[in-house]
Amino acid sequence: MNRRHLLLSSAALSSLALSAHAANPTAPVVNKPEVLKGAENTARAQPPLPYAQSALAPVIGSTTVGLHYGKHHKKYFEELAKLLPAATLETDSLESIVRAATPGPIANNAGQAWNHNFYWRSIAPKSGGKPPQAVRVALEESFGSVDAFNKEFTKTASEHFGSGWAWLCKNQQNGKLVVVGTHDAASPLTMASLKPLLVVDVWEHAYYKDYSNEREKYVTAVVDKLLNWRFVEANLAT
Ligand SMILES: [Fe+2]
Repeated sequence: MNRRHLLLSSAALSSLALSAHAANPTAPVVNKPEVLKGAENTARAQPPLPYAQSALAPVIGSTTVGLHYGKHHKKYFEELAKLLPAATLETDSLESIVRAATPGPIANNAGQAWNHNFYWRSIAPKSGGKPPQAVRVALEESFGSVDAFNKEFTKTASEHFGSGWAWLCKNQQNGKLVVVGTHDAASPLTMASLKPLLVVDVWEHAYYKDYSNEREKYVTAVVDKLLNWRFVEANLAT
């Protein structure tokens, strides 16, 4: 993981989250157990989309999902199949490949494969709105209110420079939830103590057909209508 690619919304958190890893880069990260399971945590095949291609409309149109899932996401798995031995594809989890990869094509394609698997589960048709109680309490403890989280997350995602991702993570050192931006294929999986709970893709391919260059409109609509709070709740509980 290239630390230059990390943008934390809080300087204090940045220091906390990275200090252990910076002091000892070989120190194991403490993100176990693995976040995604089963077909969503394998490198050998792209998992099915968890809903119909048109199910996110009108927030994210069917054409966008078709291209995003059927072209961009699929391509990362096709590239991984060329880069990794068949035995590795069969036996190693996608998350373990992401964690172990050094900067380069394997890290990029495995990172993007996993990030998209996580993205499709982080949003869902007819979602958003009020989070379940456990999530609401955790957000209030870390951000002051759900609205304050929504505002910080939307700002991080909207203002992120270039291609990347906006995450809600749990800092497993202090239990606090934090908003994190990563560039390109980077993932909190490789950052000390951060467990991802939710992600929104802010690469242009995620929104350009529906919103042209107005990324904030895409992010606002996703936050209001598609965030899968049940997925966040499940990730918080493990
Ligand atoms: Fe994407």
